[in-house]
Amino acid sequence: MSKLYTKQDIKEAAKAIKEGKLVAFPTETVYGLGADATNVQAVNQVFEAKGRPSDNPLIVHVADIKTVEELAEINKNAYNLMKRFWPGPLTIILPIKPGSLDKVVTGGLTTAAFRNPDNKETIDLIKAAGVPLVGPSANTSGKPSPTKPEHVLHDLDGKIAGVLDDGETRIGVESTVIDVSTKIPAILRPGAVTVEQIESVIGEIQTDHHKVGKNETPKAPGMKYKHYAPNAQVYIVGSDEWLKVKEWILKHPDQQFGIMAPDKLQSDFEQSNVSYFGMGNSIQDASHRLFDGLRLLDGNNKIKIIFAPEFVKIGLGIAYMNRLEKSAGKQYLVDLVD
Ligand code: TXA
Ligand code: MG
Repeated sequence: MSKLYTKQDIKEAAKAIKEGKLVAFPTETVYGLGADATNVQAVNQVFEAKGRPSDNPLIVHVADIKTVEELAEINKNAYNLMKRFWPGPLTIILPIKPGSLDKVVTGGLTTAAFRNPDNKETIDLIKAAGVPLVGPSANTSGKPSPTKPEHVLHDLDGKIAGVLDDGETRIGVESTVIDVSTKIPAILRPGAVTVEQIESVIGEIQTDHHKVGKNETPKAPGMKYKHYAPNAQVYIVGSDEWLKVKEWILKHPDQQFGIMAPDKLQSDFEQSNVSYFGMGNSIQDASHRLFDGLRLLDGNNKIKIIFAPEFVKIGLGIAYMNRLEKSAGKQYLVDLVD
């Protein structure tokens, strides 16, 4: 059994980290699976617990910029981004100083990803442990990222020392990843820090790196793997298509459906073969709830189809749609109903 650590237990959690154990920690985005980034054996255990491919590098979570200065070469763009967005949901890829981080952390690359999470308990944990923490999302590889301590325990109970409990995470989708080690900085994963916000600090950047064609290799190794996938098939539904969904459900009374849709549509879906999960009233709400909803509905194994709402691909909508398209395998309602 893994433990639920509270604020009062941060010293105990830090001790576990120092002993090479795994402790999941809260951030403003999703829960991370923490281990001492300077302990190769502990980092190896992170890959094992998640079932994560070893060529997929980890983010190094730090309590301050000084730690990054010790490990990596920071250029002007990187400093400006750190000053503007840290602590916060922006992960920055930088060239590392030779020998500063082991290849199990970097996946053998000459760069590493750094992040200063906006969560006081986790910053206190990093400080108490006295080492930077690797922290992939604390889910089984391929499953939706955890936004609640119970999601972490669902996937990893018994495989980790415990979870530092800070309730539900605020943002719900993982951090924006930006590579500033190249001449023109590039977004490798969209998140809550938007392209417009970044460009207002460092000027024009490349934004299409996370979109990868069939035979290309993505720059963030993690983007090539299957992600966020529940066992049910997810279909993405445009805001003007919910009537079609309702008709489909009425035509299939013997099947069980999951619906993730704006709160205001709930009264349209009171059929007995529907489990309804309210996505709130905004893109912020929907991003915050997406992984929770996928996990909850997928917990009912009678549900073979989940419908989830499309949002316009601007601002946070880019990050939300990036995650939703992955969990749906890019299946839209037209792929089911025509
Ligand atoms: O919000 C977040 O970023 C969460 C919380 C826990 O901090 N963490 C997270 O970690 O999402 P993870 O491991 O699930 O995603 C890290 C992503 C992967 O796509 C990985 O391939 C990429 O960052 N990455 C890490 N190091 C990299 C590097 N040196 N070059 C390119 N991509 C890198
Ligand atoms: Mg992940």
